[in-house]
Amino acid sequence: MNKPELITSIAAMREASRRAKQSGTVALVPTMGALHEGHFSLVRAARAACDVVIVSIFVNPMQFGPNEDFERYPRALEADLKMLEEEQVNFVFVPERGEMYPSGETGTLVEVQHIGSRLDGAFRLGHFRGVATVVAKLFHITLPDVAFFGQKDAAQVAVLRAMVRDLNFPLKLIVCPTVREPDGLAMSSRNRYLTVIERAQSLVLYRALSKAHTEVHGGVRDADKLRDTMTRVMKGEPAAETEYVEVVDPDTLLPIEDVSEGALLAIAARVGGTRLIDNVLLPPMRNGLCG
Ligand code: PAJ
Repeated sequence: MNKPELITSIAAMREASRRAKQSGTVALVPTMGALHEGHFSLVRAARAACDVVIVSIFVNPMQFGPNEDFERYPRALEADLKMLEEEQVNFVFVPERGEMYPSGETGTLVEVQHIGSRLDGAFRLGHFRGVATVVAKLFHITLPDVAFFGQKDAAQVAVLRAMVRDLNFPLKLIVCPTVREPDGLAMSSRNRYLTVIERAQSLVLYRALSKAHTEVHGGVRDADKLRDTMTRVMKGEPAAETEYVEVVDPDTLLPIEDVSEGALLAIAARVGGTRLIDNVLLPPMRNGLCG
């Protein structure tokens, strides 16, 4: 098995990608490291679809608010690199902060208006500006034909789809399903913050989404009813401080009234100090049946 080549400079990464593109398709899997099976599902999808796979690891300061967990965010580069050796990745791009933001941060920002201030964007001000800006930079540096993202971060997907469309990035986004622990908890690098008790309490997000999903299978189409159901389940776990419980259009992230044409059920909550998000994407339902 070939060890992936570790690249830390923008110039070297772009040159490697340019060369790779002459012989095939290039995939990018952007991450902030502390890799888990959710990340690896994207890497494997990229490996299956493209000739060359680049994984980026960069804990992007721009997408963290002043009172958020940038300093504390788990960093596990050694372990990440070791695990990536098993995945037949071609390049791992790990820039230092000063390489990405030589003058501290950047004066040029990518702001996806409206969509970027909904769901998580309404609670984490400036978060999606930081995400869109760094992902735009990563696209320019790694020149991917295809980029892979997780459905786990549904609002991020909506923001980045809009950015790719509006700014005409010549690439395709592929979104992979959320990978869960056996008991249903969505995998996340932040799950490492949870104590054993908080870990059990965190399952309430999955329970709330599952209850609503079951109601949809039972014929419910009314978004308010599904919001009520999820809110009721969330209230049953006093340790969980709900930020939002939403039923929205997955592209615009605007609330909808009826889920027949497809919908995103999304929840954010804090358990202990840890912010958790999870969602279920409902496809359009034909003939009243759940797709
Ligand atoms: P990070 O949280 O490290 O996630 C990297 C990618 O893995 C994202 O596309 C995310 O949606 C996906 N992912 C995380 N948990 C997942 C799960 N349980 N199942 C499936 N996919 C999962 O998202 C970011 O980093 C950053 O915002 C980034 C896009 C790298 C920009 O800095």
